[in-house]
Amino acid sequence: MMETKISTIIDEHAADPTRLIDILQALQNHFGFLSTQTVEQTARLLNIPRSQIHSVIEFYSFLHSEPVGTYRILLSDCIIDTLHGFQTVMDAFCQKLDIQPGTIRSDGKVSIATTSCTGFCDQGPAALINGIAVVALDLDRVERVVNLIEQGEPISEWPADLLHSEDNIQQRGFLLQQGIEAGSAIKALLDRGIENTLIGLEQSGLRGCGGAGFPTVNKWRFCRQVEADAHYVVCNADEGEPGTFKDRVLLNNYADQVIEGMTLCARLIGASQGFIYLRGEYLFLRQKLQQIIDQRRQNNWLGQAIAGVEGFDFDIEIRMGAGAYICGEESALLESLEGKRGVPRIRPPFPVTHGYLDKPTVINNVETFAAAAKITVAGAQSYNQVGTEDSPGSRLLSISGDCARPGIYEYPFGTTIEKILIDCGASHTRCVQVGGPSGTLVTNTDFQRQISFEDLPTGGSFMIFNDSRDPLAIATNFAHFFAHESCGFCTPCRVGTTLVKNTLDKVVNGLGSENDLAELKKLSHLVKAYSHCGLGQTATNPVMDSLTHFPEYYQAKVKDQAFTPAIDLEQALQQARTLTGRADADAHLEQFNE
Ligand SMILES: Cc1cc2nc3c(=O)[nH]c(=O)nc-3n(C[C@H](O)[C@H](O)[C@H](O)COP(=O)(O)O)c2cc1C
Ligand code: SF4
Repeated sequence: MMETKISTIIDEHAADPTRLIDILQALQNHFGFLSTQTVEQTARLLNIPRSQIHSVIEFYSFLHSEPVGTYRILLSDCIIDTLHGFQTVMDAFCQKLDIQPGTIRSDGKVSIATTSCTGFCDQGPAALINGIAVVALDLDRVERVVNLIEQGEPISEWPADLLHSEDNIQQRGFLLQQGIEAGSAIKALLDRGIENTLIGLEQSGLRGCGGAGFPTVNKWRFCRQVEADAHYVVCNADEGEPGTFKDRVLLNNYADQVIEGMTLCARLIGASQGFIYLRGEYLFLRQKLQQIIDQRRQNNWLGQAIAGVEGFDFDIEIRMGAGAYICGEESALLESLEGKRGVPRIRPPFPVTHGYLDKPTVINNVETFAAAAKITVAGAQSYNQVGTEDSPGSRLLSISGDCARPGIYEYPFGTTIEKILIDCGASHTRCVQVGGPSGTLVTNTDFQRQISFEDLPTGGSFMIFNDSRDPLAIATNFAHFFAHESCGFCTPCRVGTTLVKNTLDKVVNGLGSENDLAELKKLSHLVKAYSHCGLGQTATNPVMDSLTHFPEYYQAKVKDQAFTPAIDLEQALQQARTLTGRADADAHLEQFNE
C-alpha cells in the first residue's frame, strides 16, 4: 500500500529527479513525514543516492524526517512580528494547547515551533499552519485556531476569515496603477519585433528589482547571444528577505502580467521552458497561479505556437521552495530547482551562460518581469519619466513596523525616507532598516537619504522602528536570522554568523565586555570579506551599522572588565555538585586530584 502510493506520487512528477523537492513535499503531505523507508524507495525509483535525499531533507526547514504534529504551527519570529506580539501569541498557543515551543504534544495532534519571516510583516504576528498562512494573530484568533485544532477540523474547512489576508496596496504608480490586458505585451512584441522590443526595454532603463539592480535588458541580451539547445526563464519568487512582501501581492493580483513578462523574455532569449520558483511560505498562492497558467494555455498565451506564431513555444511550471532563505540567491535557486541542496554556485560562470541544467538561463525577480511587460505595452517613457538618472522608474516598497498604514507603496526612485515616513503615518521614528537585514540601517539624522541604486538600494523591504525600540534587540534578532539561514558551505559564514550571534547574546545578557565589542567588529569584517556569497557578505551589516549608530546601547550592557566569562562557573558547577552529592566548594578539583 505504502509502496504503491510512493510510486504513484513519483509517477505524478514524471519520476524526474530535478523535481525532488516537490516530490518530497508531496510524500510528506501524504505520510506526515519522510521515513527511512520512504527515502529508500524514492531513491530507488528516481535512481539517485539515498544520501542525496537525506542531505536535501536536512537542508530545507520545511522537510522533516521525524513526525510532527497533525497540525504543525510555525510562528514567525521575524523582528516585526516580534514587535507586534509574537511572544504573547506563542505563550497563548502553548498555554491553551498545553505544549512547549519546539515540541510535539504527547497525543501527536499538534506541534509548535518558530520560523523566519512568513512574508506578512504588514499584518503580523503571522503563523504557517500546515503550510498555510494565518495572519493578524491576537488572543481571540489564537482561541479560534486552538478550538478548530482540538475539534480536528481540517484546515480546508476553517472559516474563510481566518485564512484571509489583505494585499494592503496603499500607493499606486506606473506598475500598480493598472494591470495590462492578458496578451497585450505579447502582441506588442510581435508587432514591433525582437530587436525593437529590446531597444524599448533598454531605453526604459529597467534594472532588476531583486536587489542588485543589474540592467534587465543586458541580462536578456547576454543570454540570447549564447548558443545552446535550450534556454530557460526563471521567475525568482522566493522573497525571503525579512520585511519584504511585494512579490506576494504582485503574484496575488498581477500574476498574469508577471507571466506575460516571462513569456516576453522567453521569446527574446529563445526559451521554451520557464519556472516560477515560489517560496514555500506562499503555498496559498499555488493553486491560483496554476489556474492562471492553465487559463493562459487555453487562450494560447502559453503552450505551443503562442498567438498562432509557429515556433513560439513556451510553458511554465511552478516549483515550490521549502523554507531556505538562501534559495533566493540565484545560483542557490538553480541548485534547488535541480532538486539539490540550495548551496550557491561558484560564479562565474553566471546563469546567463550556465544556468538551469547548465544551460543559458535568465533569472529575474517577480517585479522585474511585471515591469518589463508593462513597459512593452505602455512604452519606455511612461516608465522612466520618473526616477533619477541612474535609477529610472519606480520601486515597490513593503512597509512594515511602527507606522499607522503598513503595506505596499509604489514610489519613484529618488523619494526620501522622510516623505515615505510621513505617507505611511510613522512618528517618533528612531531608524529604518532599508533592504531588510542585509540592507542598511538609516537613523533619524539621515532621513533625507533617497531610495535609489546610487544611495539606498533595496529589494523592497522597509522596516520602521520608533524610539521605544531597542537597536541592540533588533541587531540580535537579525544575527539569529543569519546564523540560522547560513547554508553552511563556507567557514567564514557558517562559523562567523554563529559567533556573532553568540557574542551578541552574551552582550544582551549583560555578560559582555569591551573585548567582546572589539571582537564583534573584527568578526563582522572577516565574515563580510571572506564569505562565498551575498548572504555572508551582508550578514553582519546590521551589527556593524548598529555599533556605529547606537554604541551607547552596547556600552550600557557591557561590564567594565576587558574580559568577562560567558558563563557563571560557580552556578554552572552547582548542578554537578548536587548530583554527585559533593557540595563542598573544592569537590571537583579534589576528585580530579585524587
Ligand atoms: C542571500 C540572497 C537572497 C536573495 N533573495 C532574493 C529573492 O528572494 N528574490 C529575488 O528576486 N532576488 C533575490 N536575491 C537576488 C538574486 O540572487 C538575483 O540577483 C535576482 O533574482 C536577479 O533578479 P533581478 O535582476 O530581477 O533583480 C538574493 C540574493 C542573495 C545573495
Ligand atoms: S556565505 Fe553563507 S550562505 Fe553563502 S555559501 Fe557561504 S555559508 Fe552558504
